[in-house]
Amino acid sequence: MDGPLGKILSEIREKGFITFDRFVELSLYDSGGYYTSKRLSLKPGEDFFTAPELSPLFGKVLSSYIEKLKESFKLPLNLVEIGAGKGFLAKDLLKFLKPKAYFVVEKRGEVPFLKGKVKWLNSLKELPNLRGFVVANELFDAFPFKRLVKEKGKLFEVVVAEEEGELKEELRPFQGSIEPLEGGEYPLFVGWKELLREVYLKLEEGVFVVFDYGGSFGEVASKRSFRAFRNGKIVNDYLKEVGKTDLTACVDFDRLKRLSEEIGFKVLEFKPLSAFLLENGIEKFASFKELPAVLTLLVDMGRKFKVLVLLKERGQAPSGKA
Ligand SMILES: C[S@@+](CC[C@H](N)C(=O)[O-])C[C@H]1O[C@@H](n2cnc3c(N)ncnc32)[C@H](O)[C@@H]1O
Repeated sequence: MDGPLGKILSEIREKGFITFDRFVELSLYDSGGYYTSKRLSLKPGEDFFTAPELSPLFGKVLSSYIEKLKESFKLPLNLVEIGAGKGFLAKDLLKFLKPKAYFVVEKRGEVPFLKGKVKWLNSLKELPNLRGFVVANELFDAFPFKRLVKEKGKLFEVVVAEEEGELKEELRPFQGSIEPLEGGEYPLFVGWKELLREVYLKLEEGVFVVFDYGGSFGEVASKRSFRAFRNGKIVNDYLKEVGKTDLTACVDFDRLKRLSEEIGFKVLEFKPLSAFLLENGIEKFASFKELPAVLTLLVDMGRKFKVLVLLKERGQAPSGKA
């Protein structure tokens, strides 16, 4: 059996069902999964374009922003990128910023054109402690997530079971403090806090710049923000072609901010991507030829994506429980 389906079926047969976050984890990251096999080509795009795949302008604006922060906070130009994917942002930041060191933390294999230019690590545990900058574009929306729904005032989670060799969804009662709003379905991402905490501990002093697709709790929890992509299209038959289908959902930035602050980060900025790009001079960097990319970045992605900038001050121990 190709891809992660064999493992998914064997876990279902053992336990009767698997939770949706486990289904996402195996579908995206197990051997033959979406990120471990399908998104390995070095072409931009495929099922979706991320901002750095669309244009180097994104990296140019981010470089200029990092230069400013470097001066304000007197930080060295050590860069860490988590979830670098095909390496487009790394290529641009290396070119425009010429950092002292560039670490990539990525679950998938090393991108050949970055060999010798970056230190490629498969886990944050391998990262040395440092002062500097951590960046992540579309990382938090690529974490495994549960899908919570409310029916007749009761909270349920979607799980994946099997019927006559086919995968199917079922609802199971769920206990938790976060609930979707009326008619909505809430994506409860698993593992965000652990990652934030690891970044906090590795950064002796520095700034973590996060870009992602999403909005406030109200925006995310009032609709079904879970989406599946295959061959460039949104699909509804996401239980089919496991490993060839991307599974993602909107980031609840209220929760992400809350978790970051609980750990000890200070929120320096939170705004739509469009405002970030304009405040940091996208118009100065763009040529006439790049106008279509500017419009996509500002109008389409600009509204849907947000930037969250977190500060770790020197000598701060993490707060709260793990
Ligand atoms: C949507 S892609 C974004 C890729 C890239 N940042 C871009 O903008 O084109 C998400 C990437 O995050 C990686 N990823 C997901 N969880 C991760 C984790 N915990 N640590 C490191 N990388 C992770 C995936 O392997 C995937 O390459």
